[in-house]
Amino acid sequence: MEPSQVAVIGSGLIGRSWAIVFAAGGFKVKLYDIAQQQLMSALENIRQQMKEMEKLGVLKGALSAEQQLALISVCTDLKAAVEGATFIQECTPENLELKKKIFSQLDLIVDDNVILSSSTSCLLPSKLFTGLKHVKQCIVSHPVNPPYFVPLVEIVPHPETDPSTTERTYALMKRIGQSPVKLNREVEGFVLNRLQYAVISEAWRLVGEGVISPTDLDLVMSDGLGMRYAFIGPLETMHLNAEGVSNYCERYAEGMRLVLNTFGPVPEFSGETAQKVSQALSEKIPVVPKVLEARRKWRDECLIGLAKLKTQMKSD
Ligand code: NAI
Repeated sequence: MEPSQVAVIGSGLIGRSWAIVFAAGGFKVKLYDIAQQQLMSALENIRQQMKEMEKLGVLKGALSAEQQLALISVCTDLKAAVEGATFIQECTPENLELKKKIFSQLDLIVDDNVILSSSTSCLLPSKLFTGLKHVKQCIVSHPVNPPYFVPLVEIVPHPETDPSTTERTYALMKRIGQSPVKLNREVEGFVLNRLQYAVISEAWRLVGEGVISPTDLDLVMSDGLGMRYAFIGPLETMHLNAEGVSNYCERYAEGMRLVLNTFGPVPEFSGETAQKVSQALSEKIPVVPKVLEARRKWRDECLIGLAKLKTQMKSD
């Protein structure tokens, strides 16, 4: 049976987001942190976010913001936080030793049914969970920021994770409106960051070699490739850009290999190119908290609009 109560461990940026996503799905959420003050500001921030989304008409789920808020409670006692929860989402800072400590604490207090899930962006399940008594119930569920409007969740098992843990996590993510994908085995960077780093790496080389300016490089993505990638992936792009994938390979494999063979080594991400990119971006968006915050707010508004459009395109 799917859980009706979940625990979220860590109430920072991602912990808050998970609490909002689970509450929208109708789940009771116990939000745990080591600092009471942190929990208080998390609750206030969650309230503001929910109210704002309700005002904009983008609040998900069948409940009002007040009703969703009432599903979230906070707690500084780990045992009490996980009591009654059948799914635990860990969202503490990206620090292997800290996360291992938390999972070993959880390992001592949970039963054999609860799922222990980590939000980690890049720590491998084999590093996080090996040796735990409940390793079969452990998994990584890696969200993308902001999870409420970018629904992807990468589900990454430990080699000893029970397939039922993966299936239950997948079903739960679907149920709360996220878009889960399953990795069959762990790999450094998972999939999203591997793709992202491949793009960053080539972007860096092109700017470094003086082929294009940093701002034009970004436009290639935002006004070019990115337009279609919000709707279809690179493989479907191949399929549609010819008469199917096989035909695409017949037509373009040689050309792709020719280009790919000119790609350079992994960049250092330092020195002259770093200066050039940093200068261009700082001119466009000065590194001042207020300016960065405003730009992030604008980005999130764009994502909200895109999320709306995607829903509309699906239902049409
Ligand atoms: P954050 O620094 O905003 O929040 C961390 C929270 O953990 C804080 O509230 C802190 O008080 C709490 N904390 C620290 N020690 C703790 C402990 N022993 N027990 C319980 N809580 C404790 O970090 P953020 O950005 O929310 O990241 C959390 C996790 O999510 C990381 O593993 C990160 O890699 C992952 N993630 C982050 C994304 C992002 O865009 N920020 C995207 C996807 C995943």
